[in-house]
Amino acid sequence: MHNYGILESILFPPVHLNIKKLKEKLKGKTILITGASFGIGEALAYQLADIDCHLILVARTEEKLLKVKEEIENKEAKVTIFSADLREPEKVEELLNLIHQLPDGLDIFVSNAGISIKRSINDSLDRFHDFTRTMAINYFAPVQLLLSLIPILKRNKGHIINVSTVNVLLVPFPYWAAYQASKSAFDTWFRSVAPELNAMGIATSSVYLPLVKTRMILPTKAYQKLPAMSPEHVAKIICRLICTRKRKYRPWWMLPGQFASIMFRGIWETAVPAVLKKKRKGNGNV
Ligand SMILES: NC(=O)c1ccc[n+]([C@@H]2O[C@H](COP(=O)([O-])OP(=O)(O)OC[C@H]3O[C@@H](n4cnc5c(N)ncnc54)[C@H](OP(=O)(O)O)[C@@H]3O)[C@@H](O)[C@H]2O)c1
Repeated sequence: MHNYGILESILFPPVHLNIKKLKEKLKGKTILITGASFGIGEALAYQLADIDCHLILVARTEEKLLKVKEEIENKEAKVTIFSADLREPEKVEELLNLIHQLPDGLDIFVSNAGISIKRSINDSLDRFHDFTRTMAINYFAPVQLLLSLIPILKRNKGHIINVSTVNVLLVPFPYWAAYQASKSAFDTWFRSVAPELNAMGIATSSVYLPLVKTRMILPTKAYQKLPAMSPEHVAKIICRLICTRKRKYRPWWMLPGQFASIMFRGIWETAVPAVLKKKRKGNGNV
């Protein structure tokens, strides 16, 4: 199904998912997925379509949410869609009101909605809004949602899953300051509150993803040739975490990656400016 090449098959080995266990686990449960109109969130919604559960799907693109709902409702799951820009706190409040009115509350929150921006700092000098908009969706929106959802999740011994990126575990890359800072902000917030949440009986999982073949990576030409996971594969990883309630997923090769990130930080910090300087000269900038 994933159509992986040899390298991708090695980097992203198959996920073994016990569908029977997943169905038992999710029977009658309510799952909130933000960013469910495209990419990973959409694939996750389809992965859960054959289960007797209630999916609350959130994103801005209403037509797309309606399409997903229409397809899933031919199957088992019940679907509620909520079209909103989660950067608007009033819209987040409306969504929260809807969830607070559910008689059985919420069981699982998959915090997935997000945007990425790749831009050099030189091209960002008059673009402060890039930094506020990434923080608004990648950090403030999930924090606002969770502050209100924690009591309901506590009541249901629920589960929060944060869709994050391997970048937050590695040395930061140039050109990605807005994205990486906002994803790191929520990762740190989430890991900081996790022990308190765990003590209340709420499970917490962070999913540290490599490149995933979604529209998010389309604007970056260099990424088209790099190994990338399929969104369906990520959906299975998330479903497995729902079953196991483990604290994190990261690709098997991340441990040596993190080790190298610490060991070779000095070399990286010397080599990267030299490479960028050469590139600037090549582009006619001094
Ligand atoms: N693709 C990768 O390589 C990769 C790698 C690591 C981590 N991730 C993370 O994976 C998550 C999902 O990304 P993806 O790759 O599936 O990208 P995607 O296909 O672009 O999906 C992003 C989802 O977030 C929603 N969204 C964006 N801004 C929103 C807003 N202001 N309000 C409400 N919904 C909003 C989008 O829906 P609308 O546009 O309809 O609002 C869409 O459903 C993100 O958190 C991303 O950081 C992705």
